[in-house]
Amino acid sequence: MAGVIVALDFADAEGALRLVSQLGESCRFYKVGSELFTAAGPAIVEALRNDGCHVFLDLKLHDIPNTVARTVRRIDEMGVRITTVHASGGRAMMEAAVEAAGVSCGVFAVTVLTSLDDSALAEVGGHNAGTVSEAVLRLAALSSSCGVRGVVCSGLEVSVLRSRFGPTLELLVPGIRLAGDDAGDQSRVVTPAVAVSAGADYIVVGRSVTAAADPVAAMQMVLEQISSSPS
Ligand code: C5P
Repeated sequence: MAGVIVALDFADAEGALRLVSQLGESCRFYKVGSELFTAAGPAIVEALRNDGCHVFLDLKLHDIPNTVARTVRRIDEMGVRITTVHASGGRAMMEAAVEAAGVSCGVFAVTVLTSLDDSALAEVGGHNAGTVSEAVLRLAALSSSCGVRGVVCSGLEVSVLRSRFGPTLELLVPGIRLAGDDAGDQSRVVTPAVAVSAGADYIVVGRSVTAAADPVAAMQMVLEQISSSPS
């Protein structure tokens, strides 16, 4: 069954750890992003690990290979299970990240942010324009040849990536919304059931749980949806 990772997009450790204790055994894998890591630092990673949780440290690194490699080494030392780099940082950068990560820390490459649509991608002129799906495929092929464990993509791209790369590339999907939720700043959103039945290995759920009136009930809904989806 696909893994569910809840994105702890909070301004401080107190808010984040309150949600972790509310969700209890229903979620044991959390994403710490740049906001929480900036506010709370490595201590939040340690607190989550001490609580028995796995940590995905989502810093989406994009720098020169030496700097990225040194940063990934520190991330690995913290006992992080998944971390991210931008595929558009290029081959040397991704290879350096993979080499720096230990066996227990998987490097995932971000293809195209799930907040970007075709026109937003064209506007930044990124990846020689092309559509989002073309850019995702090209960047996933590059990432795969650099030895990353997986890629971050939207639920709309999962089936094409799964058929192109088979089980060799793990697929981690943010931009998840329960039916009726607001998409917010995301463009390419799908429900948990759609992402998992298309072949996602992990789904990352943020505001659908963290901003829900009842986060525990929202988490249960996510788990029910994915347990009844073919994967
Ligand atoms: O609240 P929401 O479910 O939109 O949160 C999605 C989370 O996944 C955010 O923490 C965001 O930074 C992250 N993410 C994303 N798109 C990517 C990579 C990560 O939305 N391509």
